[in-house]
Amino acid sequence: MLLDVLVLAAGKGTRMRSELPKVLHPLAGKPLLAHVFSSVEGLDGAAINVIVGHGKEQIQATFAGQPLNWIEQTSQLGTAHAVLQAIPALRDEAKVLIVYGDVPLIESSTLEKMLAGVDRDAMALLTVTLPDPSGYGRILRNPTGDVIGIVEQKDAAPEQLQISEVNTGVMAMTAADLKTWLPQIDNNNAQQEYYLTDVISLARAAGRRINTYQPAAQEEVEGVNSRAQLVALERYYQRQKANSLLDCGVTIIDPTRFDCRGELVTGEDVVIDINCIFEGTNSIGNQVSIGPSCVIKDAIIGDRVIIKANTVIEGPVTLEADVQVGPFARLRPHTVLAEGAKVGNFVETKKAQIGPGSKISHLSYVGDAVLGSEVNVGAGTITCNYDGVNKHLTEIDDGAFIGSNTSLVAPVVVGKNATVGAGSTISRDVPDDSLAIARGKQRTIDTWKRPEKN
Ligand code: UD1
Ligand code: MG
Repeated sequence: MLLDVLVLAAGKGTRMRSELPKVLHPLAGKPLLAHVFSSVEGLDGAAINVIVGHGKEQIQATFAGQPLNWIEQTSQLGTAHAVLQAIPALRDEAKVLIVYGDVPLIESSTLEKMLAGVDRDAMALLTVTLPDPSGYGRILRNPTGDVIGIVEQKDAAPEQLQISEVNTGVMAMTAADLKTWLPQIDNNNAQQEYYLTDVISLARAAGRRINTYQPAAQEEVEGVNSRAQLVALERYYQRQKANSLLDCGVTIIDPTRFDCRGELVTGEDVVIDINCIFEGTNSIGNQVSIGPSCVIKDAIIGDRVIIKANTVIEGPVTLEADVQVGPFARLRPHTVLAEGAKVGNFVETKKAQIGPGSKISHLSYVGDAVLGSEVNVGAGTITCNYDGVNKHLTEIDDGAFIGSNTSLVAPVVVGKNATVGAGSTISRDVPDDSLAIARGKQRTIDTWKRPEKN
């Protein structure tokens, strides 16, 4: 069956008080609209049409190159008017599903249930019963329980305002029905808008059944109109994410202080302490421990890795098994720590391959570097990788020992099992097994006297 999805996203979002179009505000690191797309793109036979108005250019640019059909609504005259703009794009044999661009957490499973209830004789409507229904369109039912209409808050009689079952805005019907009904909708109402909700009475008049469905959770149909609603949905999303990780064998010490803004795959017996943020695509092995306040982006983390407090990882970064990082380490893109390697506090790495068992324990910058196995880099070591124009490589071979406070002026190679004396500035290659010292010789003046105060 063909499915034409209509995503309504032309509204302004005045209450966000933002330059950014509302549907581009991020939830869990991606635009609201992207969440809606991921809920509908997997639906059987779906073609996605997006109705845009306010912020159209910016919205289209954000999703450039994706298989989306953009439809413009130049002035926002109401939800039915928005859908009307899409009529030429609808395929006659298709079902049509209408969703909102500012309702990000709708589940595919809810939409699938609804679509199964649409045929030549029936349309589908998603409703929800709310403790506080104010602002929403109320669902009107007859004594036998059939839906007979939807009345908007501003048009409702006092007794209708008591109804707590409301319209979520999500509905589905055949394209044939929608094409027949839409042109019949007028703007004779309190807001002088073309109300999509008027299709209900038209469906009744045409003898269609109106099948109603409810979401599994109320948050699925909650819209974002203000920043307060945005952050409330963010917390809901994060709590759900934390719950699913708990089920997968991850101890999240405090699920209310956990944020995943992207994909996170985990093994078992993982412990994540408070205030960690995961961005992009991360995968974590088994028995991994992550200390408090770490920010981890695009990392592949092997088994038994220990990441201590306040570590920042800006991937792509790979940590092989038994690696230890932090506290206060910063691993920048293209850092690879091989099995058992260790990077300690106040160490920054970038484009650095650190071999198995090698250690950079304190206060160092290692960039554009390839380190072999069992290398020991002393505190305060700097790879001087930049000559002001180009970047150059530092190579440190297996078993080498770099004394503290060494500057390695790249391009330079420190050979296997070589030793560099502390405080050296190394600008020429150091052969295997040798000792290089490049620092001012110490002079000791034993006849020296401290000056005396006048
Ligand atoms: C609508 C429903 C109401 C329902 C509520 C659920 C109608 C008449 N009312 O009301 O029954 O309870 O949603 O949230 O449908 N939009 C456009 N173009 C327009 C107008 C709106 O694209 O001309 C888009 C908005 O960007 C938004 C969505 O449609 O994503 C809903 O519009 P909104 O103005 O929020 O509708 P409500 O008045 O809240
Ligand atoms: Mg609304």
